[in-house]
Amino acid sequence: MGQDILYEKLIRPLLFKLDPESVHQAAHHALLTAGPIVNALPLRYSGSDLSVTLFGRKLLNPIGLAAGFDKNGSLAPILGGLGFGFMEIGSVCARPHGGNPRPRLFRLSDDEALINRLGLNGLGAQAIVTALSGKKFSLPCGINIAKTNDPAISGEDAVEDVVYSFSLVKNLPVEFVTINASCPNTAEGCLKESSVLAATLERVNAINDRKLPILLKLSPDSSEKFLEEVVAICKDKKVSGYVCGNTTTTREDLATNAERLNAIGWGGLSGKPVKHLNLQLTRKIASLKSPEQIIIGVGGISSGQDAFDYLSAGAHVLEVYTGFVYLGPSCAKQICEELSAILRTRGTTLGEMAGGRLSPAT
Ligand SMILES: Cc1cc2nc3c(=O)[nH]c(=O)nc-3n(C[C@H](O)[C@H](O)[C@H](O)COP(=O)(O)O)c2cc1C
Repeated sequence: MGQDILYEKLIRPLLFKLDPESVHQAAHHALLTAGPIVNALPLRYSGSDLSVTLFGRKLLNPIGLAAGFDKNGSLAPILGGLGFGFMEIGSVCARPHGGNPRPRLFRLSDDEALINRLGLNGLGAQAIVTALSGKKFSLPCGINIAKTNDPAISGEDAVEDVVYSFSLVKNLPVEFVTINASCPNTAEGCLKESSVLAATLERVNAINDRKLPILLKLSPDSSEKFLEEVVAICKDKKVSGYVCGNTTTTREDLATNAERLNAIGWGGLSGKPVKHLNLQLTRKIASLKSPEQIIIGVGGISSGQDAFDYLSAGAHVLEVYTGFVYLGPSCAKQICEELSAILRTRGTTLGEMAGGRLSPAT
């Protein structure tokens, strides 16, 4: 029996009987304990056709693990064994925070989706950087930073809060830093004032002595006008790209019934139902951005076709979170195998699709 079938038919039904956050914590613990065993499992896509260079670093494939799975980066030294081409650690915030009260993570199995309102829980930038200093990461990593979940931190204090996190994480061996301006799970919600973003980027640039590429993570719920304003700022401040995008607070066309949705309550929806929204966001940003800026496409990717759809919309590389929960450990490999077959059938390559922004790795 293949690992994918084993997970789908045997392991997933058992895991899905349990509380989602407890399963996440147990998986985290198991991965930490079983690190070397994970590395020995045949979970890596073995072809070389999907290998690309991003920000000067070779990725074995373009499928990354999205922010939120490894908020404190403790898995970065071992997650390479799961076959992802890269990952985003975080969101990391300036201050430690327990997040919102539990329960705060819910499965919508009929929609292959999740709703979460974790609320940026994490150990805080200083503790994370201390724990990760001197550690060797098992795959290329970006790090995602966000404003501490506290509505009292606003205006100039919000700028200071994010800049403080950047001043610490910039010394880690990461390939890029994403500023998460789109978490819907805090009292204040997504970034609304573009002036705060402009001031943050200005201050980040001033201390970015390693010239780390800076990306901005956007929300599918933002208005077109706001996105246009934000992209203009990002071009002006020489931002290297965009992550399109975060979870949505909308609840449209779901198979899950209204009663269950009401019982779950507020939070960010991820997985299959967010795909069309984040694809739309990707297309919009692709039409606005400058040619040298890149797009990481994320939202509802769980097949080679999903990956291909994002590449067609203008994404250069991709990330997955909810698809990993539903597909299990062979997620990255499965998506890569399917994507490779689609590219072959269509007589194209990843480099061609990425509009020349990715060079095939040598
Ligand atoms: C449980 C959970 C926690 C998340 N935490 C973060 C986070 O801390 N920072 C962030 O930028 N995105 C976070 N996300 C959003 C994901 O990175 C991703 O943008 C979103 O889930 C859409 O991708 P998906 O459909 O593949 O899950 C989280 C998502 C989930 C499901």
